[in-house]
Amino acid sequence: MSQPFKATRVTDTVYWVGAIDWTIRNFHGYATSRGTTYNAYLVLADKVTLVDTVKAPFKDEMLARISSVIEPTRIDYIISNHSEMDHTGCLPQVMELVKPGKVLASENGVKALREHFHGIGEVIAVKDGETLSLGNMTLSFIESRMLHWPDSMMTYLGEEQLVFSQDAFGMHLASTERFDDEVNESIFEYEAAKYYANILLPFSSFVTRLLDKLGKLGLSFKMIAPDHGPIWRKNPEVIVESYARWAEQKRSRRAVIVYDTMWQSTALMARVISDGLVSEGVPVKVMPLESSHRSDVATEILDAGALLVGSPTLNNNIFPTLADVLTYLKGLKPKNLLGAVFGSYGWSGESVKQLREFLTEMKVELVGEGINVKYVPDDEALAQCFSLGTLVAQKLKERYPV
Ligand code: FEO
Repeated sequence: MSQPFKATRVTDTVYWVGAIDWTIRNFHGYATSRGTTYNAYLVLADKVTLVDTVKAPFKDEMLARISSVIEPTRIDYIISNHSEMDHTGCLPQVMELVKPGKVLASENGVKALREHFHGIGEVIAVKDGETLSLGNMTLSFIESRMLHWPDSMMTYLGEEQLVFSQDAFGMHLASTERFDDEVNESIFEYEAAKYYANILLPFSSFVTRLLDKLGKLGLSFKMIAPDHGPIWRKNPEVIVESYARWAEQKRSRRAVIVYDTMWQSTALMARVISDGLVSEGVPVKVMPLESSHRSDVATEILDAGALLVGSPTLNNNIFPTLADVLTYLKGLKPKNLLGAVFGSYGWSGESVKQLREFLTEMKVELVGEGINVKYVPDDEALAQCFSLGTLVAQKLKERYPV
């Protein structure tokens, strides 16, 4: 039975032939609460070219979209911009079916594809700056190492002034709308920031280098076509400017408090510390881990200036949810954060020290030693919590005067 999926026209020569994943909610630890798309693109040049493929279960959907424009066996070249399996899961089967003249990837991409798909057919390595003639059109390859993996590259189609940017400039957003001007602005702004915070933040120095390189190449971009989410056609400069700003990790006069609690002592401390911050005019996002996902915490600290964390002591350790979120945040390597720690305990009381060690490893500048309360905070302990909030707020205001 052939599936009646259709391609979406991007330009006269480029078609979107990807897949929409309305179901996925966990993308290797990232809560994809709005699903995602796996974008693949068909270039109808003299040499018909497919740029990227889709996650394995969506192969038939992609092939059906291709078939709505051209017989898949007429594909001459396949470009693999990024080897992660959401873009290559069905590549070996598609190569088998289509028998393209050439499959191309970066040098690291060739290695990664061989290491993922043992016995995969020939894949040709291309270098940064190399070009490929499609007869009446030309593709140029731009290495974009670490955005998102060491193999990542972008492909520029000069005749359409369009860059296929793979993960970079993307977002996890399942939608029937394919373009930035069709999607609700507040949704795609949030999802683009969430994607950067959770996927690209640790590689911010590579983002800065890539943007410099693109500037020096002097290429003009009418469109940016990423491998997830909408295509930027109305204002591609908006996402480029956002990336430049996020990569600098410039922060703002805003605080995030993350905590978990056993008998509400640490929760009460968190709420009082929050009020201390607010009393100094600093807005706060309080994130109890009972109801906050690690990837939402990462999103909130993308531009917050302070991260305060609280945990009870459970069997000589921090609460497991704190270990989860701090391990995740440490891997994302946020910079330029102020921080503070607090918690409660019954008898041994190690959590505050362990939280301090975590934040120190993350190079967070700590305000004070932290507050560690036995069992239930009394008036004096709560006054200390309020003061801690005001102290962090004052430091934030010194750092961010306006
Ligand atoms: Fe969308 Fe790094 O894969």
